Amino acid sequence: MRIVPVSLGNRSYQIKVGSGWLPRLGAECARLKLGQRCAVITDTNAGRLFAKAALKSLAASGFDPVLITVPAGEKSKCLALVEKCHDQLAAHRLERKSFIVALGGGVVGDLTGFVAATYLRGVPFVQVPTSLLAQVDSSVGGKTGVNLKSGKNLVGAFYQPQLVLCDLDTLKTLPKREYVSGLAEVIKYGIIYDAVLFAQLERNLPKLLQRDAATLRSVVARCCEIKAEVVGQDETETGLRAILNFGHTIGHAIENSSGYGKYLHGEAIAIGAVAAAKLSRTVLGLPSGDGERVEKLLAQAGLPVTIKLDAARRKKLFAAMRLDKKVSHGEIQFVLARKIGKVLWGQKVPAEAIQAVLP
Ligand code: GLY
Repeated sequence: MRIVPVSLGNRSYQIKVGSGWLPRLGAECARLKLGQRCAVITDTNAGRLFAKAALKSLAASGFDPVLITVPAGEKSKCLALVEKCHDQLAAHRLERKSFIVALGGGVVGDLTGFVAATYLRGVPFVQVPTSLLAQVDSSVGGKTGVNLKSGKNLVGAFYQPQLVLCDLDTLKTLPKREYVSGLAEVIKYGIIYDAVLFAQLERNLPKLLQRDAATLRSVVARCCEIKAEVVGQDETETGLRAILNFGHTIGHAIENSSGYGKYLHGEAIAIGAVAAAKLSRTVLGLPSGDGERVEKLLAQAGLPVTIKLDAARRKKLFAAMRLDKKVSHGEIQFVLARKIGKVLWGQKVPAEAIQAVLP
């Protein structure tokens, strides 16, 4: 078991990484001294696999949980479902001291966090991420929110959980495509912050693809450590935190312009990361060997690294990029790499250079 602290003053919390955490959910919540009434928000996929264990554990520790299940998929990150969840919390008379558990992947975590941030102007919540992507990224750091038709995560709040429980056992049943999608974020941490991690991933990729328990524990904990260090220095993304968006400027636009769900988040990010590495070569002089290693590792993990665009899709993609939150004074900003393990944020890139890396 590994414990990673997130240091944010009176909003500090722990990320617990290891096997067997789900059955201990109730005991862990009891340590937080929250109210008795609580809700578990999950989706149809995670709920089928894990809701019973979560409810049993909470009830065994004296809590009175209600289960709220939303449809699986990115489409559930919408304001209509936020309202539905609020209504169900009110119907079950959740109070300020009550708490909410987010049980599922990134969609459930983002939606539940925003529901928690806004219900009664904020009730405590606990993240129990059950996908690799959620364990290494979205459950940590307090970004919560939902999508609008015009863009991803355009409505949201910074709202920190009280605790993150990463039960590695939940990854055993994750469909291969989703697991591999999570690896895109894992590889991202190596590129943006830790060349040693990147080299370890190159060496240990076969073990990681086999979901070897010890490899997963050390990799998930290291990714959480990096995220905690970054968020601890820049909670609300005034600067450094932007490095976590490496590959996301193009990646989000791919997700948005091709209709949510066609590409999984990590798949879009992998394509965006390779494009960002190519831009890094022209703008910051990233050594070509580093760019090749990035593309090779993502491809070997089973992720897409290119996208074919006809004129209409290209136009849609650029329109989506301009709507992204990372646009500042109308200019599209990129996180670019100097070398593996070192990136710079806020890099303005001419549109022609972006066109050139998206053939
Ligand atoms: N996923 C990027 C961030 O949490 O800042």
